[in-house]
Amino acid sequence: MSTPGTLTTPGSAGEPRRAGTVLRVGIVGAGQLARMTHRAAIDLGIEVVVLATSADEPAVAAGATCRLGSPEVLEDLAALAAACDVVTFDHERIPTEHLEALERRGIAVRPAAQAALAAQDKLHARRLLGDELGLPVPAFAPVEDAAAVARFALRHGWPVVLKARRGGYDGRGVAMVHTPGEAEAVLATGGEWLAEACVPLDLEVAAMVARSPSGELVSYPVVETVQAAGMCRELRAPAAIPPALAEEAQALARLIAERLGATGILAVELFVSDGRLLVNELALRPHNSGHWTIEGAATSQFENHLRGVLDLPLGETTLRAPAVATVNVVGPRDGGDPRARLAAALAVPGAQVHLYGKAARPGRKLGHVTALAGTAGAAREIAQRAAGALGSPA
Ligand SMILES: Nc1ncnc2c1ncn2[C@@H]1O[C@H](COP(=O)(O)OP(=O)(O)OP(=O)(O)O)[C@@H](O)[C@H]1O
Ligand SMILES: [Mg+2]
Repeated sequence: MSTPGTLTTPGSAGEPRRAGTVLRVGIVGAGQLARMTHRAAIDLGIEVVVLATSADEPAVAAGATCRLGSPEVLEDLAALAAACDVVTFDHERIPTEHLEALERRGIAVRPAAQAALAAQDKLHARRLLGDELGLPVPAFAPVEDAAAVARFALRHGWPVVLKARRGGYDGRGVAMVHTPGEAEAVLATGGEWLAEACVPLDLEVAAMVARSPSGELVSYPVVETVQAAGMCRELRAPAAIPPALAEEAQALARLIAERLGATGILAVELFVSDGRLLVNELALRPHNSGHWTIEGAATSQFENHLRGVLDLPLGETTLRAPAVATVNVVGPRDGGDPRARLAAALAVPGAQVHLYGKAARPGRKLGHVTALAGTAGAAREIAQRAAGALGSPA
């Protein structure tokens, strides 16, 4: 494992530092998103340097240059930044004040700390999107105790969706409660929570854009996201929704990207409820809803994230087939490792298999399979068959 020294000199605040010939992108985090970004960087001759908490994280195992450290330690973040032109991240668990401290030191944090906050803090995001920008969001309120949840339910009905203000993912930190007693049990787990009206869902979609600091912006076709137990399990591109609704979703994502000054990828998760869009949550980084773009779009979300954060021209986002399906590979209930079943998945014609090199645990996202086809049904059938062959539960 190499630990690069200081290879660049600081530029003015927020400007990329371009002292060397090789562009270096620092990624805080070394999970599967960093791993797939590293893969895209290889083709462009860009070096990815990850801040990993352990040497067996997915991006390190895939050969990304690594610095060991914690996203919660400012000097670990600063050491990563000193070796890179820009700093980005593959998760939300970085204290906002640390990102701001890096910015004050003249480091190009992409996206900027203030923009990143919209993905880190669900209450901040709701206030920004709903109250300040006037965008459609589910009814929400911060709640401190079960009595506040009960008051919220008087106005919006049971069940109520409780969400941890920070730190949730894959349905963790999201609970649907039906009584004050259930609310009490969730709140007793600690941390800050907000209540949300439980919205009847027709389906869920995601609108993804890439934006560069100089303001160039590209939109991906809207994708349907299928969740089970709060976790995204399947993607269907393009989403089978009326074209006007898809355009509205893309317009919402563009508007949010502009207002936040997002750089790199912005994914906007949306609910379709009674034929209307509501904004769920934001990710200001490559996101599960964009995994289909690796084979399914002219430029993958990972490449466009790199291009965006480095202020390089953005790539085209058009579909490469009439229908693209991606099925997440989730750890089998028997604890088996999908890597042991690779041959069975590769025997499925047309299946593009991605495994993240993570230790298998039941219910953990371990990879995904993508298929391109002439129809949505055919693409799904291939991707589901290969994911099933890897042991992923249906
Ligand atoms: N207000 C709501 N009404 C109905 N269903 C909801 C609501 N909020 C969340 N859900 C369901 O729970 C899922 C997870 O919620 P959310 O996206 O807020 O949390 P998350 O676990 O942080 O997700 P991610 O892994 O995408 O970061 C949603 O995709 C949706 O299926
Ligand atoms: Mg979500």
